[in-house]
Amino acid sequence: MNKQWWKESVVYQIYPRSFQDSNGDGIGDLQGIISRLDYLELLGINVVWLCPVYQSPNDDNGYDISNYQNIMNEFGTLADWEELLAGLHARGMKLIMDLVVNHSSDEHAWFAESRKSPDSPYRDYYIWRAGKDGHEPNNWGSFFSGPAWEYDAQTGEYFLHLFSRKQPDLNWDNPKLRQEIYDMMTWWLDKGIDGFRMDVINLISKVPELPNVGKDQEDGERTYHFGGEYFVNGPRVHEYIQEMNREVLSKYDIMTVGEAIGVTPEEAALYVGEDRNELQMLFHFELMEVDSGPGGKWDVQPWKLADIKSIFSKWQTALHGKGWNSLYLNNHDQPRMLSRFGDDKHYPKESAKMLATLLHTLQGTPYIYQGEEIGMTNVKFDSINDYKDIEILNMYKEYRAAGYAEEEIMNSIYVKGRDNGRTPMQWSAEPQAGFTTGTPWLAVNPNYTEINAEQALADPDSIFHYYKKLIELRKSHDIFVYGDYAILAEEHEQVYAYLRTLGEEQLLVMLNFFGRPAAFELPACVIFKEKTLLIANYGVQPEEDIRSLSLRPYEARVYRLR
Ligand code: NOJ
Repeated sequence: MNKQWWKESVVYQIYPRSFQDSNGDGIGDLQGIISRLDYLELLGINVVWLCPVYQSPNDDNGYDISNYQNIMNEFGTLADWEELLAGLHARGMKLIMDLVVNHSSDEHAWFAESRKSPDSPYRDYYIWRAGKDGHEPNNWGSFFSGPAWEYDAQTGEYFLHLFSRKQPDLNWDNPKLRQEIYDMMTWWLDKGIDGFRMDVINLISKVPELPNVGKDQEDGERTYHFGGEYFVNGPRVHEYIQEMNREVLSKYDIMTVGEAIGVTPEEAALYVGEDRNELQMLFHFELMEVDSGPGGKWDVQPWKLADIKSIFSKWQTALHGKGWNSLYLNNHDQPRMLSRFGDDKHYPKESAKMLATLLHTLQGTPYIYQGEEIGMTNVKFDSINDYKDIEILNMYKEYRAAGYAEEEIMNSIYVKGRDNGRTPMQWSAEPQAGFTTGTPWLAVNPNYTEINAEQALADPDSIFHYYKKLIELRKSHDIFVYGDYAILAEEHEQVYAYLRTLGEEQLLVMLNFFGRPAAFELPACVIFKEKTLLIANYGVQPEEDIRSLSLRPYEARVYRLR
């Protein structure tokens, strides 16, 4: 058992734009975060992951960086950031920064130079190609709709952008570019940060020929397709991450988590294997795709518990003893966990606590997304004009043009849109949820009068206090972190149950995933003399026989068995 502080940590993700505004401009900022450090300390988290705070024209809310070594004006200054780091460290918490190096902003000085001329020393920092027959160099589509190429009239060539046209992809095949990135990372690490979350890190290496997807090129109308086979886990990705590890990461005691689109557990092991000298853990997307149909993200389908179980079991088993899992149920790119996997209308408290139990009792490092700990939910704005996310706005235009009905598109946005997770943090029942004294950049969810942190702190039975208790349990019981995982009663249609085992000790976790009671018989293979209830989201009689139970709607229980 290879013990590490980052395995034992609970991470809290902050989306700064929506966390806390301190100056009334309607945009969250660093001083706002500083004013909430006591709240984070009370919750008990160990690490903060701060989404991008660097200079940016905000085409994609900071994931388009124009200067990697300075702070976005709306968020404050480098001095504010130093104060934040010191404030976290003084309270025993760590800070990991977002590293967005698959692409920069088109307003980055490198790109301004690069686009000037094919002879620019910076030309090769990006991926430029001549067009083909008056079209883009290939038929790849962007993640944010439309082609992955933008024509630049100045030099008559196209540049590649897997995301928005204001996010040109960096050319990792250029050693000078790689060195600039390593220098920048070292600069931040020398300021004392504790690690990085790496944005779409498994997309940085592209097949150099940039081939077309499929072969529909001859026929008249141009269509664009997902070119993942040519850039997901691309040909040199491991070489580059190993180089980054050698040049930078290995020199510090830090944590690293890579965002990895479309990875299988076998591929993940190549990034996080303990003998690989790459990263420590990944965010994979399998769970985030359980409610997508063949048409992709916006083709919304109900999830199945059997899929959820098999995804977790597969990852728990595949990485066990080899690498490490990250655990998350939502983030700034996803709908709210409670609305997606729980019942935010009839059983908000029970289902949020049940999901929290899942998050903290599997093997891996849990990531809590701001607001999750108070039961924040998805939002429904009446008009597309109330939405701000570039992915939503581009998709809306594309689907309207393709003839989809307004209502159908809005319904997909209500279920899957990224702005669900981006409405301002609900601090209190004051106007604008106590997030700002001005007009928030994205409207607050109208349910803030009932769902807010002030109310949660005052209620000993709140979701917040349940999270706090789970975090304490993880800190005081090694088995939560290091215990082996084994699923129980795999075929059960309503209950997800599993055992964690460490030496003589066992942890029994039982989760009813539905809003109706569930009969549950403990399989005979579970043998124990004593049982202690560690946490539950309903009142439980200590003498109750747990061999045969009726679990209440969304009931969650965790027992220690000996
Ligand atoms: C993943 C980030 O989490 C998302 O917010 C962003 O739009 C894309 N990567 C592009 O950077």
